[in-house]
Amino acid sequence: MHIYINIYINEMSSLLAASVLLVLSLPGLSAAQQPHVVLVLADDFGWYDVGYHGSEIRTPNLDKLSAGGVRLENYYVQPLCTPSRNQLMTGRYQIHTGMQHQIIWPCQPYCVPLDEELLPQLMKEAGYATHMVGKWHLGMYKKDCLPTRRGFDTYFGYLTGSEDYYSHVRCYHIDPLNRTHCALDLRDGEEVATGYKGLYSTELFSQRATSLIEKHNSTKPLFLYVALQAVHAPLQVPERYTAPYSFIEDHNRRMYAGMVSAMDEAVGNITLALQQEGLWDNTVLVFSTDNGGQTLSGGSNWPLRGRKWSLWEGGIRGVGFVASPLLKRPGTVSRELIHISDWLPTLVVGLAGGSTDRTKPLDGFNVWNTISKGFASPRLELLHNIDPLYNDIAPCPGMRRQLTLAQVGSSGRSRANSGFNVSIHAAIRSSNWKLLTGYPGCDIWFPRPGHSSSESRSSDVDPLNSVMLFDVEKDPEERNEVSAQFPTVVDYLLNRLHKYQQSALPINFPADDPRCDPGPTGAWGPWA
Ligand SMILES: *[C@@H]1O[C@H](CO)[C@@H](O)[C@H](O)[C@H]1NC(C)=O
Ligand SMILES: *[C@@H]1O[C@H](CO)[C@@H](O)[C@H](O)[C@H]1NC(C)=O
Ligand SMILES: *[C@@H]1O[C@H](CO)[C@@H](O)[C@H](O)[C@H]1NC(C)=O
Ligand SMILES: *[C@@H]1O[C@H](CO)[C@@H](O)[C@H](O)[C@H]1NC(C)=O
Repeated sequence: MHIYINIYINEMSSLLAASVLLVLSLPGLSAAQQPHVVLVLADDFGWYDVGYHGSEIRTPNLDKLSAGGVRLENYYVQPLCTPSRNQLMTGRYQIHTGMQHQIIWPCQPYCVPLDEELLPQLMKEAGYATHMVGKWHLGMYKKDCLPTRRGFDTYFGYLTGSEDYYSHVRCYHIDPLNRTHCALDLRDGEEVATGYKGLYSTELFSQRATSLIEKHNSTKPLFLYVALQAVHAPLQVPERYTAPYSFIEDHNRRMYAGMVSAMDEAVGNITLALQQEGLWDNTVLVFSTDNGGQTLSGGSNWPLRGRKWSLWEGGIRGVGFVASPLLKRPGTVSRELIHISDWLPTLVVGLAGGSTDRTKPLDGFNVWNTISKGFASPRLELLHNIDPLYNDIAPCPGMRRQLTLAQVGSSGRSRANSGFNVSIHAAIRSSNWKLLTGYPGCDIWFPRPGHSSSESRSSDVDPLNSVMLFDVEKDPEERNEVSAQFPTVVDYLLNRLHKYQQSALPINFPADDPRCDPGPTGAWGPWA
């Protein structure tokens, strides 16, 4: 179920025609010095679901790797799958690719704009072998959108999202046909991959990743992107992984805990393969979630407010760390502001010695010195998103209060000067301040797993305002709304939002194309 909006990005071909190819002489590193880069992205892995945040879920591999690396504790992702992956691959905010609204549904005819240079293309240009395993979710309606056409030498994985972990089948209601269609979504390269039915995807993908590592010729630097299906719904996991969690009473949480354990083991297996193949000493391993946990499917972001799909900290403050023998200050915790869009310049420029000169203007920063040496982050501001079409499709307990502009008037401050429409779902961060406008999404403080739900009731809490300001350094739980005390900060951040909105591309969110139907025996994949 989603709304149909047909706004297409303006043709920019005239601009492209003027672009000039420059031959660059890189001051870069020789191939032998370029580190291998392994980027592991977990799906819907929540703040309170990793052992080192105090979770009852055991993640010994993530705990150990991050303890010997650098834990990123002021690290942000986007609140949803496609948006985080989009920013990871482009180094640019969603508003700059026309993808500020929701995710790409299986039958929508669009993908990350083809004139964007993606991370694997840049790594390849810097001399890397580039491989991807797992979830793409960046569009596939035509072949030019596929990972193998966008910089990856090899690909094994699925193109949409939410499929079955064993059958690799995804069911989707094709709106214009008014029919739900279930079809396989698994590919090896561009070919449909049959023959993997019954194999649990967390194991399947980690096996493919370790086999790529084993086959890798180490004279070339390796870029391996492992986008695990874990720990997204549906809640499916072999019983051996849930066995240690008989003490968890909640069924969803227990299944989810098992899925997290399998994922933790996958990361352990990948790391072990890097060590056994002699690559580890020259490897940088990045681990990140794509968004906050989904409380409806066993995830938890306690004590943070909100969840996946929302701009509250529970939706966007991500679990992330870097593990590598190359870190200058291993065993530290970074509280510097870092965002998922920062990986592109960090990996390409900071690690590969490559160039981002041919990309469109980046929103990400090279934060390698911040992570490795503890330098201050070059990032002073972070646009979380601006989405005038926002709607939260999942039920939120207590029917939270959607707002009206009338409430802004009642706060007694004029917003006339900023020019920003505060009914729009948006959020921005600047140093310790976070400003939210419109309806940020489900605003519950979900209780700590296994504890009473009394903490989640927020009827005694102020109603939501159209403009809210939090000092998230002091108040990461977003409990004390302070816009009335800091009107100058509010005005400044509204002006910044207005500036960003002026640079936004029109939203591209086309209606389902019925030609996506793969037919009775087909697989989801390019149709145009
Ligand atoms: C869609 O199909 C269902 C049952 O197959 C039917 O009840 C419903 O009326 C249909 N909706 C439309 C808009 O045709
Ligand atoms: C990790 O490796 C072990 C040993 O090969 C294997 O039994 C297990 O299934 C692997 N786990 C995952 C999640 O791939
Ligand atoms: C690895 O690549 C180098 C350089 O291309 C080549 O000389 C060597 O034979 C390769 N090693 C293996 C085991 O394929
Ligand atoms: C402000 O934004 C809301 C939500 O996107 C929209 O419904 C409304 O029409 C906008 N108002 C103006 C004056 O543009």
